[in-house]
Order: sequence, then structure tokens, then C-alpha cells
Amino acid sequence: MSRRAVVYLYTQTGQLREVAEAFVAPLEADGWRIRWVDVQPRVAFPFPWSVRQFFGVFPRAVDPDALVELAEPAGGFGAERDEQEVVLLAYQVWYLSPSLPIRSLVAGHPEIFENRRVISLIACRNMWYSAAIEVAGLLRTAGARRVEVVAATDTRHQAASLVTTLRWLLTGKREPFLRFGRAGVGDAELARVTAVGRSIAGQGNCPADAAPIVPMLAAADLFAGRLFRNWGVTVRWAERYGAAAYAASLVMFVFGLAIGIVAGLPLIGGAALAGGARFETWISGAVNRRISLGESTVQEAARHERAIQ
Ligand SMILES: Cc1cc2nc3c(=O)[nH]c(=O)nc-3n(C[C@H](O)[C@H](O)[C@H](O)COP(=O)(O)O)c2cc1C
Repeated sequence: MSRRAVVYLYTQTGQLREVAEAFVAPLEADGWRIRWVDVQPRVAFPFPWSVRQFFGVFPRAVDPDALVELAEPAGGFGAERDEQEVVLLAYQVWYLSPSLPIRSLVAGHPEIFENRRVISLIACRNMWYSAAIEVAGLLRTAGARRVEVVAATDTRHQAASLVTTLRWLLTGKREPFLRFGRAGVGDAELARVTAVGRSIAGQGNCPADAAPIVPMLAAADLFAGRLFRNWGVTVRWAERYGAAAYAASLVMFVFGLAIGIVAGLPLIGGAALAGGARFETWISGAVNRRISLGESTVQEAARHERAIQ
């Protein structure tokens, strides 16, 4: 098996770098050679975000065709044409989609992924499912040979992680406050990601739990992902009718989002409970089929797509 990997990484707070380092540590200990390529947009996204910027990026984030220009890294994007080198694609989720710089990398530089084994390394709050499906589609189009997913999330209670993540993104403060813990991916998740890296170094494969699927979150994510993309179309359409129409459509999104979180999530949670094991099997299958590709890729992926339609 190849003992070389390249990590493509864009991170605002450094969280994703921590997760990627946790993943590659056992590979390095096993003698793997790791290259790091920093992905940076030409025009930086803000951090911390202002409320206006945070919601203002929504229409582009959920538009599968929206790309940003990337700064060319010193050695170029795909310097080594070594097809045995494993590609680690580290990304975070923005509004249930891959972040704009990473979507731009995959859509704009398919040659990096062509005929390669790609391991996606996701770090986000807890909803990564629709984003992973979008990225798998892009990687399939790019001709990736094999795609696997490793996901690290904030495993605290939904409501708590919503508060701490928003506070972190809008103020830059990540540390515990009041009764809330530290925002973001915790130590137990980092340890789990290291165990996944160890498994790749040892047996060459991702373990089955590399990206644990939480049925209720997965169902909410797939449902909301579709709504987000449709609402994004509405916001971009409203933009043509001036600043007031644009602002109104965004405000409606924010209210809709709040209602969805307060009322929609418990509803889906109730449905998930009622559906029991059958629901879990169905949603896990639906997600797994769409986020990963096997060795024979294109034909196999097409078969998967047909099977779930
Ligand atoms: C604009 C924006 C939207 C986000 N949307 C989501 C989301 O839909 N689901 C999620 O789990 N996390 C979401 N997050 C959290 C990020 O995935 C990520 O955890 C956080 O931005 C820190 O990542 P970084 O420092 O590696 O860039 C969002 C963050 C931003 C900035």
C-alpha cells in the first residue's frame, strides 16, 4: 500500500488542522510521507464573522455552482503526479454544503483527484451529511478511484453546541462560559480520529465507524439540505429586485432556520424514534451509498445512484 499522502486543508480557526494532525499522527509514526497544501481564497472570508457576513454567505454557500477564486499555493495545487499518493481532503461544512474554498478546489482542480484514493476528513458542528454527498458527487465527476469519509463533530447536546458554535463563529471565543463547555470538536473525537488513522496505517482501511451516522441528524440534514438549496435560489432571485427584497428573503431564512431548529428537529427526532431500527438502517444505507465510492468508481456509483432513485 502507498505510504504517501497529501493533505488539502482550509481552516479558519485551526480546528480542522487539529483534526487533520490527529488523523495523520499514526501515519507519520508508521513512516508515511505527508505533504500539506494550504487552500486559501484570494479574498479571505472573515473570522470572527459579523452577523451580516455570516448570513450573507448563505446564498453562495448553498449554490452548487458558486465558486471563489483560490490563491495559487507555492508548489501549485497538484504538483506531484503520483497516483499512489493518497489524497486527504479536509473540509468544514457551511450551511450543509462544503465550504466555498473547498468546493472551489474540488470543482476547479479535478486533476488533483483523478484516479486517486481520496479520504475526506470533515470537522463541523454535527451536520455533515448533505455536504459529504455534494463532495462525493464532485469527486466522482473528477474521476476519483475511491472515496471514504472520516467525520469529527461536536458531540455535545444539540442546543448547547448551537449556542457555543454561534458564539465562537461570531465572537471568536471558543473557551467554556457559564455552564457551557468549549466549542467545537472535543478530545474524545480527536482520539477517535487518531484511531481511524491508526487503522489506515495498520490494515489500510477506514473502520466502519469512521463517520458515525446519527439517524435523526442525518434525516434532518438531508431534508434541510434540499430546503436550503431551494431557499438559496429564492434569495439569489430576490437580490435582482434590490437590497430590500434581498434582505427580506435572508431575514425569512433566519426565522425559518430558527423555527426549523426549535420545531423541525424534535419532529424528525420523534419520527426517527417511531421508525426504530428500520429507519436507522434505511437512513444509514442512504447516506453511506452516497458519500463513498469503491475501487470501480464511476460504474458502481452510477449503479448506487440508480438504486436509490
Ligand atoms: C458560515 C458557516 C456556516 C456553517 N454551517 C454549518 C453547518 O451547516 N453544519 C455544521 O455542522 N457546522 C457548520 N458550521 C461550522 C463549521 O463547519 C466549522 O465547524 C467551523 O466553522 C470551524 O471550522 P474551521 O475553523 O476549521 O474553519 C458553519 C460555519 C460557518 C462559518
